[in-house]
Amino acid sequence: MRFINLLPIALLAATASTTAIPESAPKDGLRLIKTSDDAPGIWVTEDEKWDLFVKAHVPFVDVTDTQDLETLGAARLQKRQSGSFPSAPTHQSQVTPLISAINISNVQGWMTTMTNYHNRYYGSTYGVQAANWLYSVVQAQAGSNSRVTVRQYTHSSFSQKSIIAKIQGTGTGVVVIGAHLDSVGSTRTGRAPGADDNASGSLAILEAFRLVVASGITPTNSIEFHWYAGEEGGLLGSRDIFRAYASAGTNVKAMLNQDMTGYSPNNQFGVIADYTNSNLNTFVEKLVTAYTAKTSKRSYCNYGCSDHASANSAGFPAAMVFEDVFESSSPYIHSASDTVSTISFSNIKEHIKLTLGFAVEASYF
Ligand SMILES: *[C@@H]1O[C@H](CO)[C@@H](O)[C@H](O)[C@H]1NC(C)=O
Ligand SMILES: *[C@@H]1O[C@H](CO)[C@@H](O)[C@H](O)[C@H]1NC(C)=O
Ligand SMILES: [Zn+2]
Repeated sequence: MRFINLLPIALLAATASTTAIPESAPKDGLRLIKTSDDAPGIWVTEDEKWDLFVKAHVPFVDVTDTQDLETLGAARLQKRQSGSFPSAPTHQSQVTPLISAINISNVQGWMTTMTNYHNRYYGSTYGVQAANWLYSVVQAQAGSNSRVTVRQYTHSSFSQKSIIAKIQGTGTGVVVIGAHLDSVGSTRTGRAPGADDNASGSLAILEAFRLVVASGITPTNSIEFHWYAGEEGGLLGSRDIFRAYASAGTNVKAMLNQDMTGYSPNNQFGVIADYTNSNLNTFVEKLVTAYTAKTSKRSYCNYGCSDHASANSAGFPAAMVFEDVFESSSPYIHSASDTVSTISFSNIKEHIKLTLGFAVEASYF
């Protein structure tokens, strides 16, 4: 998740026309950065990307490796934008026992290890190591269930790997539950515990994955849990993966993204209304009522906010449930202060409940 800083956006808009490199120019080593759907994008070096966008908290997407994603998704997006979802949750008898079995000690233990990596920057050795550690933990939850596979997803332009865990369904549909595994600090080499942003999302879905696997469910739609690399670098990991799915014609029926789940002063979920599917959002609100102790409120997160935008670009119905309304989210992210001490584990538990409800209910979509 990236925070918006409007002043730099204005500055950037003013400078973009003079500094932009023509589309036809050589682009070796440069990155193509977009700050809105309509912007043509500008080519910058990695250093400029850091200074102008990441460090300046300007919302952006790095489309260098996935320039055709929006084109691939356009037709499907039109068709699916009005996609229909059940009018109410109907699998309470399956979900309730899973909710009762949530063990928040697991999340606390994983959180300590994950945030002890100096940082999880997608371009750092630490970031690679942290992603490999998370992969080993996901594998450990999969046990010996033959329906379950866990793999790392390699990206061509950076070394941190994403993770995809799949519970094979009986049909061809797929539902995706995602969170990003990387973190970012105030410098590329600096300390970035990323407890809320976004260990909290990653570990909420990890505990949900553990419980769904342990339930022995044989879903209709395959249930996939994704941990994305390089979110803070401009949605790099999720764009690669959803580009591959769009290209392969994978039937993604719904995607739920969670990014920051551990800080909620108003005790309400923010259901993100932009770059998401409004009918799916309505269904998610019903899940909140059915399965959690929180209320929800629609909120806006803006361009390039997080990985749901990549699924949405691919034309797949996507939703994003945030720890609170955007304006009330953790003030500590992207700094050395995003530590475990600021985390509300009871709030993470509410996200796990929601994830369990989504996983089971959506497996029947
Ligand atoms: C919860 O998890 C912790 C380790 O994370 C474990 O020691 C404990 O036994 C678990 N509790 C239950 C009820 O399974
Ligand atoms: C945490 O990860 C989730 C899932 O990818 C993402 O939606 C969210 O934006 C991330 N949070 C932040 C603060 O980056
Ligand atoms: Zn972030």
